[in-house]
Amino acid sequence: MIPERRSVLHSWCVQADWDAPEIVGGEGAWFWDDHGRRYLDMSSLAECMSLGHQHPALVRAIQEQAGKLCFMTSDWGAEPRARLAERLLEKSGFEGGRVFFSLGGADANEHAVKFARQASGKPRGWIIARDRSYHGASYGTMALSGDTRTRYYIDPQDMRAVHVPPPYSYRCPFGSASEAECGQRSARHVGGVIDEHAAGNVAAVLMEPNAGTNGIVAPENYWPLLREETRRRGIYLIADEVMSGFGRCGEWFAWQRYGEAGRPDLMCLAKGLTASHLPLGAVLMSRDVAARLENEMLYTGLTYCGHPLACAAGLAALKAYEDEGLIERSRNLGARLLTELQTMQERVEVIGDVRGGHGLFAVVELVKNRATREPVSPWPRSHPSLTAFVDRAREEGVSFATRGNLIIMAPPLVIEEKDLLGALALMERLLKELEWS
Ligand SMILES: Cc1ncc(COP(=O)(O)O)c(C=O)c1O
Repeated sequence: MIPERRSVLHSWCVQADWDAPEIVGGEGAWFWDDHGRRYLDMSSLAECMSLGHQHPALVRAIQEQAGKLCFMTSDWGAEPRARLAERLLEKSGFEGGRVFFSLGGADANEHAVKFARQASGKPRGWIIARDRSYHGASYGTMALSGDTRTRYYIDPQDMRAVHVPPPYSYRCPFGSASEAECGQRSARHVGGVIDEHAAGNVAAVLMEPNAGTNGIVAPENYWPLLREETRRRGIYLIADEVMSGFGRCGEWFAWQRYGEAGRPDLMCLAKGLTASHLPLGAVLMSRDVAARLENEMLYTGLTYCGHPLACAAGLAALKAYEDEGLIERSRNLGARLLTELQTMQERVEVIGDVRGGHGLFAVVELVKNRATREPVSPWPRSHPSLTAFVDRAREEGVSFATRGNLIIMAPPLVIEEKDLLGALALMERLLKELEWS
């Protein structure tokens, strides 16, 4: 067999550098390679395997559905699709709304934009998104993303996308003195940008409610204020919950922490929806948005929209989150994770900031100097010692995710507490041993 490193084009890497072990199995928060080496997963792979690896109820549900009906297009009905839509509307409180199923996060975001434009009667309306955000790697979502890595390949203006500064309170783009001020000024700025373009030309604001792989955790007041700014101007708010949904931020969906004051008009899901046991994404929309689309032709679709096997996995995933009390577990263990990281920060000089912890999602930002907050490497570059950190941790059986000058922690919600604490001890030792100048 040709080795994978010579036959497969791998994503987000230099092909010549790719040389990873072959993974052959997993259970809970652990997976293992063909040499029997075990790795503790501190990031749920791509922040997506929230129920851990090979969850038995999901494996069973997929097998059972495969025995009944593998596939049916949207020209026909399929029971798991209808049941999953019903459950998602129930969990989100989008009573009377509808669900459009996609294959993952990027196409969910693209479709949310299509629906917002169609429902608002602004087929080419502007979409306001944030700098330093990630919404996917298709051309449409590259335009929505505020990602310097791919900016060279697209002009967001061609797709009628405009970017605003993120609510990044550790380095507030508005020079704020406090988190609350940063949240307020960042949200107000969005209102200002809507006014600049005129509300009649803006179709939607699309953002992540709480956390993301950009490592920015919005101040508490940001999302409700953003909702106020958009609602007051009659602009749809789309919540990209691809990463933050399904307990990652301590609620079924991160906006729910703010109750009705945080309710978006549309919401995009993927990753935790099936805990990545099969590819599936979804756009949920409010009763109002659904009503506006009800008698209009929808010129869009994907062959595999609402694939029955994936929907069966989604139904089993929702049941597992519920039966195992994982949303609450994520909230409790996330608080412990944050406390542990905050005390680690007192002992480890290179840790400049620690944030998150509403659920099992936390970010550690590394700096050369705590007083000046100079990052160990300019965004989005990575310091060689952070690369060494990942390699050495992997040699010791722990898989960490990093990006730029950040360590991003998002373990499966089923991780054992002792395993989590063991990984944090290893992290502290390595951060102290490595050279950060
Ligand atoms: C917030 C967010 N939106 C969208 C996406 C894109 O999802 P997918 O890779 O399934 O297309 C991601 C993936 O990391 C994400 O984190």
